[in-house]
Amino acid sequence: MFPLLIGVAIHDRLRVSFQLSLSLTTMLICRTSPLPRLRKGAIKVKRKMEIAIQKLNQSGRVLVLTGAGISAESGVPTFRGGGGTSVWRGMPFEQLSSKQMVDSNLPLVWEWFDYRRSVVSECQPNAAHQALATFEWNNRFEDFKLVTQNVDGLHAAAGSTGVVELHGSIWRARCLKCEARRDMRTVPAGERPPLCLKCGNVMRPDVVLFGENLPSDAFEDAGLHAKDCDVCIVVGTSALVQPAAFLPEFARAAGAFVIEVNPEETVFSGKCDLSLRGRAGEILPQILRSTHKNKFHVNSAVP
Ligand SMILES: NC(=O)c1ccc[n+]([C@@H]2O[C@H](COP(=O)([O-])OP(=O)(O)OC[C@H]3O[C@@H](n4cnc5c(N)ncnc54)[C@H](O)[C@@H]3O)[C@@H](O)[C@H]2O)c1
Ligand SMILES: [Zn+2]
Repeated sequence: MFPLLIGVAIHDRLRVSFQLSLSLTTMLICRTSPLPRLRKGAIKVKRKMEIAIQKLNQSGRVLVLTGAGISAESGVPTFRGGGGTSVWRGMPFEQLSSKQMVDSNLPLVWEWFDYRRSVVSECQPNAAHQALATFEWNNRFEDFKLVTQNVDGLHAAAGSTGVVELHGSIWRARCLKCEARRDMRTVPAGERPPLCLKCGNVMRPDVVLFGENLPSDAFEDAGLHAKDCDVCIVVGTSALVQPAAFLPEFARAAGAFVIEVNPEETVFSGKCDLSLRGRAGEILPQILRSTHKNKFHVNSAVP
């Protein structure tokens, strides 16, 4: 229903947007009383932070969308941060992480994902992951939803719960026949491909591969929060992977104030209300420290 696409041109984006569910479109139309927009222009960094904090302090409902950039400071390589492309054994990631490769060479796909897990297993959540977990645990907002395109599991490792994983997780395998899942931490290294404990069939990584559809329940859940949020923060994504990149556009169309956190300009920068240029591990903890404590009921400290 929601195919994973990269680098699509504007007209392609529009085409894909028409593929989105009618219910989502209807929800957007129903959204009322948008927050006032900011005047565009050069606003100093300090002032931008003040605006972001002010908006968050006025908000009850917050949606955060994260991408590979939030894990960069943990040492997880991004795919195209900085404009380059990534290859492994001479093959571009779009080719390795594709449904065609699952069909033609599943053992190679597992080698690639074993490699990715070995990289991530050396990495710890950073200050940005921890700040987002703390936002949730402090119950600072009436509703706080974390949606990620990442497959590395670092949000959960930082203590975030109920994270919408739009693209799945490298820590899970999924049966090609019955869709049962297994936690890869419990699968012996020699068992490749892993076998389903339910039906005995071979399993694949439980990750949305290029050209595949996103799980519609995950995307609809994220879409519901996008149409309802007051502030949407987009962190560390090049905004090139669809349909995830539509979420902040939904939020903005529905009246939310949209803030981007990224050291680089992205295709989304011109469409958001505020761009905070910098690293997530610096900016998110600053925002966390400066937003009102006890806005709603604070029930605990850092998880
Ligand atoms: N960690 C992961 O799980 C991981 C890693 C690589 C790719 N992916 C997958 O590949 C796709 C890549 O798309 P994407 O948009 O998420 O990433 P991307 O690689 O296309 O872009 C990364 C973005 O992060 C920004 N960035 C780099 N360092 C940052 C920092 N310290 N703070 C904030 N931003 C920073 C870059 O400027 C860039 O815009 C996604 O579908 C994702 O599922 C996931
Ligand atoms: Zn099975």
